[in-house]
Amino acid sequence: MSEHFAGSCNEQQSRTNLPAWSQLEQHATKMREATLRELFDADPDRAAAFGIQDLGMYADFAKNRINAETLTLLTELADQCGLREKMAAMFGGEKINISEDRAVLHTALRAPRETTINVDGGNVVPEVHEVLEKMAGFATAVRSRTWRGHTGEPIRNVINIGIGGSDLGPRMAYQALRPFADRNLHLEFVSNIDGADFVEATQGLDPAETLFIVSSKSWRTLETLTNAATAREWVLAAFDGDASSIASHFVAVSTNTEGVPEFGIDPANMFGFWDWVGGRYSLDSAVGLSLMVAIGPENFIEMLGGFHDVDEHFRTAPLERNIPALMGLISVWYNNFLGAESQAVLPYSHYLAHLPAYLQQLEMESNGKHVTVSGAPVDYQTGQIIWGQPGTNGQHAFYQLLHQGTKLVPCDFIAVVEPFSDLAHQHDLLNANVFAQTEGLAFGRTEQELRDAGSPEEQIPHRVCKGNQPTTTLLLDRLDPRSLGTLIALYEHKVFTEGVIWDVDSFDQWGVELGKLLADTIAEELTADSVPSMDHDGSTTELIRRYRTGRGRE
Ligand code: F6P
Repeated sequence: MSEHFAGSCNEQQSRTNLPAWSQLEQHATKMREATLRELFDADPDRAAAFGIQDLGMYADFAKNRINAETLTLLTELADQCGLREKMAAMFGGEKINISEDRAVLHTALRAPRETTINVDGGNVVPEVHEVLEKMAGFATAVRSRTWRGHTGEPIRNVINIGIGGSDLGPRMAYQALRPFADRNLHLEFVSNIDGADFVEATQGLDPAETLFIVSSKSWRTLETLTNAATAREWVLAAFDGDASSIASHFVAVSTNTEGVPEFGIDPANMFGFWDWVGGRYSLDSAVGLSLMVAIGPENFIEMLGGFHDVDEHFRTAPLERNIPALMGLISVWYNNFLGAESQAVLPYSHYLAHLPAYLQQLEMESNGKHVTVSGAPVDYQTGQIIWGQPGTNGQHAFYQLLHQGTKLVPCDFIAVVEPFSDLAHQHDLLNANVFAQTEGLAFGRTEQELRDAGSPEEQIPHRVCKGNQPTTTLLLDRLDPRSLGTLIALYEHKVFTEGVIWDVDSFDQWGVELGKLLADTIAEELTADSVPSMDHDGSTTELIRRYRTGRGRE
């Protein structure tokens, strides 16, 4: 067990007893009243003080409801919670996932070849590079059309079957990097146990040209194994049940070396990874295989470079200039001291459309915890509720609440300077909206301003925008494989920082198990030939009964 994560007497006391926590509570009573207008009036140089140019981006924290004292206290809180020591423990391969007794080493997945990172006495970096090479060989074979289907057809369709971390990462990154993808390869992602997902993804596709990448860390996930079985039937049906067709139409990504061959996939076509890679941190492991097929090994390696740049920044930059640490600390500030209930992520790039969904798993599965690392109930809020949509679509849906509602919703705006297409004039308009929104959310519109602009008096109360809605803007130089890696790693380490402050195990997910367990029982009850005896509450029993009736199973 990692001594940095459990056992030190500091860990046994609640975070709320730390001196910096009490000081932040006091500080918050002042800051709750302060407006961004006042903060900017008091310090016209806020942009310089709270802006950081690094990692191929400009991170603008100036429009947050913070001042120099807030940051000092937050970094003191980080020190008192042992953020530095815990970072070192994670990067060093200590078993900081206490409840599962595992190391947490997604950072090893992007470590340069010459690095040494020991887990249980062995250096894991050579194995990481071995798998990357195997992935590159496979991706190149598919991309060069030398990997052939059962009847000798080149592969034109690649379907990733997986869910959660085995789906959201490659799905999000494929959408983000479409301009870098082989446009003649058709990629689909099937995740939902709802058969409609499989049916729609395979609609019109020829099995002879279709390759499935079945991705499951555990190889026990109901959704993935069910969809994989459906896919196997679909392929076998096309080849008169010839089981030898499986070898050329299925590969697997998993840590389960026994389950994969049992399913019928040749172990030679299995790409492994390790229990020290959490599902939601696994995009840059073999779980990214479908992405690598789409964008090619070089671009994939470039993406890993972006991840690694942030790892180095996170490890070495002072906390007050450390972008992911600040993202995490400011998030804690709103969550625990200013009473925010959620956080919006608003990417102004169509390519980043799936980022909010990806970050939902990263944040909410990691930090939605009710006990500390040592198992004591927390007496403060943990976990951010993450939501969002790409701009400008969201502006015509939920921004009204951000501008005039009653809730505090800190927002991350993500924007890109370099246009990707020839439609550069649209890109300028897109970004005009980013800057307009963050300005409007911060400063709003006062009664006086409305009056001066000639608004009818009776409309003024309805038109006032109170402002003071905090935003962080991440302005990327461009969106490419490297900057995508950078962006994702920023959020990974943001989540880590939050988890350290909240003293939770950010790397387990026991809560997900309950639903799986209950669904197993109910699946049997739904399909039983005769009405089963059930042991549920009245509401659940009634729902099951009605469903059975609807399906003609009375
Ligand atoms: O949702 C629970 C979970 O275990 C996630 O953490 C994981 O990403 C997902 O299920 C899929 O798991 P697997 O890759 O083992 O199929």
